[in-house]
Amino acid sequence: MLLLLLLVTSCAAIPQNLSEKMFTFPQETNTAHVRLTTSRQNLQAVTVCFRFFSDLKREYALFSLAVPSFYNGFLFYKNVNSFAVCVRNAESIFEGLDFKLNKWHSVCGTWSATPGLVQLWLNGEPSSRKFTSSGSSINGPIIIALGQDQDSHGGGFDAKQSFVGMMSDLHMWDYKLSPYEIRKYMNDRGYAKGNVLNWNSMDFQIIGRVLIENKQIAFQ
Ligand SMILES: *[C@@H]1O[C@H](CO)[C@@H](O)[C@H](O)[C@H]1NC(C)=O
Repeated sequence: MLLLLLLVTSCAAIPQNLSEKMFTFPQETNTAHVRLTTSRQNLQAVTVCFRFFSDLKREYALFSLAVPSFYNGFLFYKNVNSFAVCVRNAESIFEGLDFKLNKWHSVCGTWSATPGLVQLWLNGEPSSRKFTSSGSSINGPIIIALGQDQDSHGGGFDAKQSFVGMMSDLHMWDYKLSPYEIRKYMNDRGYAKGNVLNWNSMDFQIIGRVLIENKQIAFQ
């Protein structure tokens, strides 16, 4: 029994190489999500990049990072007509970025505690640089949920904010990527993989109906 437990525990800890794979979120629920784990507990700067595909017309959460003191520690949120990024519960709205349904989009968000600006990149185009939260780091045990919006540390999901679609190539860094590095990510050409989360070596847990499938098209 103990041996089995050890075996299960050690299996769960082996990261998977998700190269050429995607997560499919096929259904609106208040449960299905992918939980990502990192031992990092103090981030002075963050870059998160991923690609996603959806035909949802309502709002939804894509990437939700919570710490006990901030449920929206670092959040990517799609509103009906704009994007939002929250850092330590402070929200910036990004208007007028070129977004279409039923297409793969590459998105990156950057933030650093000094000077506290957040910027979104969508398909190679930079947004305005906006102030969110400065001075303090994102601090505490981190829980990341893909496909749901955390309204508590690890839960508090709402089906009307859930993601339905596909997601791939997720990376997270503990520094602000340069525009040159972001361009390499957008073009999917030899970019440096995430040093906090790495799609090619991912520690994760699937909760509910989320599937790992082969990527369907080449990204441009
Ligand atoms: C993941 O798989 C890809 C494609 O097979 C390979 O190029 C890459 O080196 C692998 N990465 C790791 C960290 O195993």
